[in-house]
Amino acid sequence: MEIVFLTRVHVAKMKSKQKSATSATHSIQELKKLLTVAEDLQGSKKSDKQRNKKCRGRPLGDPFYLCYNKFMKISDCLKAQKEKLKNAGKEERDAEVVLSCLMQKSIGEVLAKKDDELNSKCEKQCQKIIDRRISKNEPICKIMGIKNFYGRDFMVNKHVLSPRQCTESLVEAVLIRIKERIKNVGAASPCSPGSHSDATPTTIKILDIGTGSGILAITLAKELETFKNIEVKMVATDISKKALKVAKKNAKLHGVNIDFRISDIFESINEKFDVIVSNPPYISEYEFDNELEPEVKNHDPKLALVGEESGYYFYERIINRSIHYLKPGGLLAFEVGHKQSGLVHAWMSQKNFKDVTIRKDYNAIERVVLGYHRD
Ligand SMILES: C[S@@+](CC[C@H](N)C(=O)[O-])C[C@H]1O[C@@H](n2cnc3c(N)ncnc32)[C@H](O)[C@@H]1O
Repeated sequence: MEIVFLTRVHVAKMKSKQKSATSATHSIQELKKLLTVAEDLQGSKKSDKQRNKKCRGRPLGDPFYLCYNKFMKISDCLKAQKEKLKNAGKEERDAEVVLSCLMQKSIGEVLAKKDDELNSKCEKQCQKIIDRRISKNEPICKIMGIKNFYGRDFMVNKHVLSPRQCTESLVEAVLIRIKERIKNVGAASPCSPGSHSDATPTTIKILDIGTGSGILAITLAKELETFKNIEVKMVATDISKKALKVAKKNAKLHGVNIDFRISDIFESINEKFDVIVSNPPYISEYEFDNELEPEVKNHDPKLALVGEESGYYFYERIINRSIHYLKPGGLLAFEVGHKQSGLVHAWMSQKNFKDVTIRKDYNAIERVVLGYHRD
């Protein structure tokens, strides 16, 4: 049985012997033999064909096959995968995200159980996913089909932008403004346990332009649910039918009612809102062609990234036309790209917006521009 418990160290040693020795194939033959013996001992001698199937195409000569034993510790798996990610210049934390998804536990729970054994299927899957992350520069969320945003999980696929942590700053900025407004008009109070007010609910109409996976609309709707006397009417638009399909699934997952509409910016909008929020495509054609990392360029839809030649197309269009879609005193809030805040701030100030403010994200980058339409 010892043979089954060969560790990576053993195999690595054998591999390095292989490199230096002239009889490399001998070691592989030896490993193959060991594998057969190990399987015999477990009473599961398999044909080459069966074994190949089990390895999902992994060549029989691959000595690491032997390491897929049932007894690897979670910490060992994490260590090995983090090392690979580090060497490839990727975020080591991705290994934790993958295991947490595979084990359907939070990262905290996974780390708390790091001395537990990991089943071999999970370890194999983790390894495969990390390899794919490295070889194809594919973001983990696109491989797993899930991404956490503002504490909630959202489904994602190739038709939507991977939610970014910096976009949480936009949610925060908008929530602060909405809460201030709620306080000022005295329309509602936070829903603390047992609290109750008989005041008539105030309706807040919010429009999310370019909703993608729906993260902004859904998060705002969920966060505002805690205010008893606020009724949120949320409209979310996107020009991409496939993106809206994802957003609808996410809204269902989180139990929120959102009016999703296919629309080229304001095309399908014929009412006025208290708040318009947008994280529009804001990369210039030049940046897309020359400066974008492969993670983004190859795995996020171009439609979600490029704001025409200059990158400012959507800001200009939305600012210029928002007067028709904002109620008096309504709030317009944007996420902006690196170094775009100055121009967007200037345009909003020129176009009848007051209290125009710039807010930074967690990395101290100017990320959000927001202001109220003058009455
Ligand atoms: C940067 S992504 C933002 C997605 C999501 N709101 C987020 O924050 O992760 C921009 C979104 O705008 C959509 N979009 C592109 N052109 C559009 C247009 N003309 N009208 C409406 N939406 C558009 C894209 O399909 C994409 O989903």
